[in-house]
Amino acid sequence: MNLWGGRFTGETDRHFAAFNASFRFDRRLIFADLQACAVHARALGRAGVLPDAEVEIITQGLQKIADLVTDPAFLDRPEFSNTEDVHSFIESRLVELIGQVGYKLHTGRSRNDQVAVATRLFLRGEIERLDDVIRDTQRTLIELAERYESDPLPGYTHLQKAQPILFAHFLLAYFQMLSRDRARLADVKKRVNVLPLGSGAMAGTNFPVDREWMAAELGFDGVTRNSIDAVSDRDYIVEFVSFAALTMMHLSRLAEDLIIYSTQEFGFIKLGDAISTGSSLMPQKKNPDSLELIRGKSARVFGHQMAMLTMAKGLPLAYNKDLQEDKETLFDTIDTLSDSLRVTATVLRNIELNRERARAAAIRDYTNATDLADYLVRKGLEFRKAHEVIGRIVVFAIEQGKELGELSLAECQQFSPLFEQDLFDAISLESSLVGKRQTGGTAPEQVRQELTRAKAEVGAD
Ligand code: ARG
Repeated sequence: MNLWGGRFTGETDRHFAAFNASFRFDRRLIFADLQACAVHARALGRAGVLPDAEVEIITQGLQKIADLVTDPAFLDRPEFSNTEDVHSFIESRLVELIGQVGYKLHTGRSRNDQVAVATRLFLRGEIERLDDVIRDTQRTLIELAERYESDPLPGYTHLQKAQPILFAHFLLAYFQMLSRDRARLADVKKRVNVLPLGSGAMAGTNFPVDREWMAAELGFDGVTRNSIDAVSDRDYIVEFVSFAALTMMHLSRLAEDLIIYSTQEFGFIKLGDAISTGSSLMPQKKNPDSLELIRGKSARVFGHQMAMLTMAKGLPLAYNKDLQEDKETLFDTIDTLSDSLRVTATVLRNIELNRERARAAAIRDYTNATDLADYLVRKGLEFRKAHEVIGRIVVFAIEQGKELGELSLAECQQFSPLFEQDLFDAISLESSLVGKRQTGGTAPEQVRQELTRAKAEVGAD
């Protein structure tokens, strides 16, 4: 049965009804909706709108529905296939279970504030769960960083060799990104966790429900301050999807790095069988599909962010049915992000660093040229001039087919009289790393400290 009977004499077109229906996906809100329904019923009781006995019957009916739908197959029953949405589903089941009194539950409420409260409750739970999933992924970064705590890796800019770093330092860069993501998520949660119920269709309600009490019962931090805004606001979904897009962007970058590092050409990382796939044709292949999918799936979450903004941008106040489109966007964002985080963690547990190759590559191709320039600075030369001198030495070394450490002292002294025997120590891999000992640098003692800090942040032992 439709929820809007009286005004209509004609039937709803079959195709439009299917087009209009959202039960197929918004059934996911059912527990949140039932929870808010029960609090609404009790608020009506406290306001003297419903007698206690009816509140009790309604509350028990709602509980019975919750029990029935813990079996997901219940929702798939063919007789529910024409259900419009999760809200009408609850009302129909309630009336079936407890009779006409079930129709009283919608007193002083509209589906507009009902859907808003259910979505916020649902999303709050998902935010709490996602925060855990991000933290688990951060822990796997830490575990991997600890396993290879003192192993070097070449660092890149422009994908050209830049300077030696520790592999752990590289991993902790991604830890930082995910920390910011968690901070953003906590901030989004503040705007999600506000109660819109009691806003009615858009103007408020004639019944004296205690909104502050309902907020406290449902664990909200407060109540919305404007009924028109409350029923049409989806900013919190835009914010959440934006947080998710940024987090996916970080996962995609990590995926890209690991894909590159696992190529034959780089060969720093070995992917385990658990996260790789083969080729149907080429027997030798082992492909990083897990990482490619993470990189690929970031695109759809970016799309969801654009969809949310575009959907909302032309809406006059207050509620418009366009807003129903927020749900599949939101649900797919949650699922894609959650799955991508889990697969990222699985990948991190199934990779190995090729220590020797990474170490050798870290100091090859003049990655210590900056350290040699800094050496001249310590000997008294202005940095810009030191840069120039080392640039010319690099050209000379390339011609000779040698690394900087393979040049003789005499060869170096042709470029500057400041060079002495100690230059060779200054450009060793160890010196290059140890030298970067300011906060945030790649020196082993710095990285160890940051690892300790990171562990404390995510409660890892
Ligand atoms: N299924 C609708 C949604 O998700 C519920 C609200 C419908 N309200 C209305 N006045 N049509 O937005």
